[in-house]
Amino acid sequence: MTDPNTDGASLMGTPGSDGRFGDFGGRFVPETIVPACEELAAGFADAWADPAFRTELDGLLADYAGRPSPLTECHRLSEELGLRLLLKREDLNHTGSHKINNVLGQALLARRMGKRRLLAETGAGQHGVATATAAALFGMDCTVYMGEVDMVRQQLNVFRMELLGAEVRPASSGSRTLKDAVNEALRDWVATVEESHYCLGSAMGPHPYPWIVRELQRVIGTEAREQCRRLLGGHPDIVTACVGGGSNAIGIFSGFVDTDAELVGVEPAGGAAVARAVPGVVHGSKSYLLQDEWGQVTEAESISAGLDYPGVGPEHAHLADIGRARYEQVTDAEVIEAFQLLSRTEGIIPALEPAHALAWVSRARADLAGRTVLLNLSGRGDKDVGQMMEILR
Ligand SMILES: Cc1ncc(COP(=O)(O)O)c(C=O)c1O
Repeated sequence: MTDPNTDGASLMGTPGSDGRFGDFGGRFVPETIVPACEELAAGFADAWADPAFRTELDGLLADYAGRPSPLTECHRLSEELGLRLLLKREDLNHTGSHKINNVLGQALLARRMGKRRLLAETGAGQHGVATATAAALFGMDCTVYMGEVDMVRQQLNVFRMELLGAEVRPASSGSRTLKDAVNEALRDWVATVEESHYCLGSAMGPHPYPWIVRELQRVIGTEAREQCRRLLGGHPDIVTACVGGGSNAIGIFSGFVDTDAELVGVEPAGGAAVARAVPGVVHGSKSYLLQDEWGQVTEAESISAGLDYPGVGPEHAHLADIGRARYEQVTDAEVIEAFQLLSRTEGIIPALEPAHALAWVSRARADLAGRTVLLNLSGRGDKDVGQMMEILR
């Protein structure tokens, strides 16, 4: 029987009050956070229905972040791969990635809810930089948790956050990467919920976060759909994006979920939660998750700090479960090749994260011959150039 709570969610509608996407999602949090989650869900529902909130956000996205982002046709690379490749250029947003879309919305929401402090977790540093940016823009305090390992990999972004006035706190437990930073941020939120908004960076975590982040990233898919309609007179055959927590992918998928375009998420081989398809609970929601035989979370391993996460947003688990999207995995070596390929053929140095999606397109080129592929270029590669220099030289 169809569950009215989840029926709409299967097509990316508003989830029910339990925050479920089919079997996935929900809210698995300590009692102390439940009121904060409920307050946030009500606050977002109210804001999202308010035309004044939407107008203010649209204004910020246009005048501050630089939206709409263009759609770029890759002539030289298309010829090389034997298919038609279009890029949605989220790398051209202010601060260099799609993360700013989510953060501007959440910062506006936080201010509307009377909070004066933003806290966030970050992996590659892009979400931390975006949060520090919004905090500076709105005159709010900002604390960003970042795994110690990532602080070394992404020193430039640590310095950017500090320049922007944020305090970067190292997460020194576990693998000292993104999952540990999320744990620290959740802990801080519990202790300071009166004055703090936890600005979660991906379409994951307890309800209402996967819903809020998807709605705030929906702008990518909405724009891309209209841009494809104008350019192609219809939809691309394939829409692809990298998947860490899943926010850039859910953003672009949302524009095409009701079409016959194939939706393909690409995970790192060392962090392929959907490919393994073992359900579990992490960071407040049920989803596919890397874990050992006793259900303990195991560590992801990827060349890109932004995808180094053992789980995936619950709506992706649902899309995989119902067969509406499929998830592929690529190796670090394939990613390094794709990173160079796009740089050389199109003059665009991608972040290592979206280079995953390109690595899959490149590997699958024979199957995709003659077809039109829309790839979400979620961020620019400046942050990764130092790391690549060490690997390639
Ligand atoms: C450029 C870029 N793309 C993708 C991601 C992965 O996040 P998500 O799966 O939420 O889009 C990150 C995370 O840091 C990122 O910096």
